[in-house]
Amino acid sequence: MPSESSPQDDRNTERKRRKFSSPDGRNVKWRLYTGATTFRKQDRVYVRPKSAREKGVAGRLIERLNDRKWKLRSDDHNEVLIVYENRMIPILSFPKTENHEKDPLSIIITAATKHYRQLAASQLCPQDAVLEIGCSTGETSEIIWNRASSWIGWDTSAEMTERTMSKHSSSCHRVCQKMNALSEPALAYQTVHQHQPATTAVWMDIGGNRDMNGVARMLHWILTSPFPALRLIVVKSEELVRELSSVPVNSEGILQMDGMEFLNQKRLEFCRLPRHPQQAPKVYSPTDPSLPICRYHNYHKKGCGKGSDCPFDHVHCHMCLEAGHVAMNCTKLTFD
Ligand SMILES: C[S@@+](CC[C@H](N)C(=O)[O-])C[C@H]1O[C@@H](n2cnc3c(N)ncnc32)[C@H](O)[C@@H]1O
Ligand SMILES: [Zn+2]
Ligand SMILES: [Zn+2]
Repeated sequence: MPSESSPQDDRNTERKRRKFSSPDGRNVKWRLYTGATTFRKQDRVYVRPKSAREKGVAGRLIERLNDRKWKLRSDDHNEVLIVYENRMIPILSFPKTENHEKDPLSIIITAATKHYRQLAASQLCPQDAVLEIGCSTGETSEIIWNRASSWIGWDTSAEMTERTMSKHSSSCHRVCQKMNALSEPALAYQTVHQHQPATTAVWMDIGGNRDMNGVARMLHWILTSPFPALRLIVVKSEELVRELSSVPVNSEGILQMDGMEFLNQKRLEFCRLPRHPQQAPKVYSPTDPSLPICRYHNYHKKGCGKGSDCPFDHVHCHMCLEAGHVAMNCTKLTFD
């Protein structure tokens, strides 16, 4: 007779499942990329070309020949090639499968722009549809354009989006916009949904290396927005790398932590009570991305004057998004 699991076992399994999952239950693998890698037989790698005019080669390592060279089988033509280790970049993400709701989602975090761009050159495949947040003048965008089937680029600065747009010939598969998903999460989501519903990868570099809060909020927005085809997120943030460098990793280099818990903590670290409800940012209901959470209900001493006639969300906390309390009573709130 099969033994039934105890409530204690259930709780442990539940905790373990949550620890490495996104809110929609996907298996999320967080790792840091520093450029220093030990390669092993069977690893998938991308080999950088000698000049920008040539194409790189992706494939699987067959065997080490000496301390500088490896034998590799290329993906494209199944050829056996001899490649130099100093040109190799590990392929760290997982390809899409038929049943893609079950595919793991990789989050790769790097501190250096050089590595952020190397990842753009090495981790994408021609089927990828990329959202680039913080495209600036389009240096990384150009690398992505050569490797993915479609692209949306955002920047909060119109000057930047104009400069990036001037670089590419107009194409319906490339859209560059002035957009800030932190201040207009619902509009931002609608835009991606309209232009590129099957977004598979996000590249994100919103600058401000000391501003962990913005980076954490943006990552939180990505992970809580429904992007069913998403397989990879690449983040450039020195501060995030510093924060995570003491987290233990397993033998595959995956960080052993509860990623959502970490993001929630960081997202809330700088939250303060606003002096007036309208000074609080617009935040949307976790159950309806077009419905703002009522700021009077959350922050006014007397609550919301409209009571049950108020069209906004009175259910969820404006601070932590959980149901059942208002931000003024939120345990996640920090005071000066
Ligand atoms: C360091 S630059 C990005 C450089 C780019 N990755 C490259 O390889 O050249 C950061 C950019 O993020 C933009 N930015 C800052 N906050 C943003 C936000 N919330 N949404 C979109 N872009 C943002 C800035 O305007 C700036 O152009
Ligand atoms: Zn209200
Ligand atoms: Zn709360």
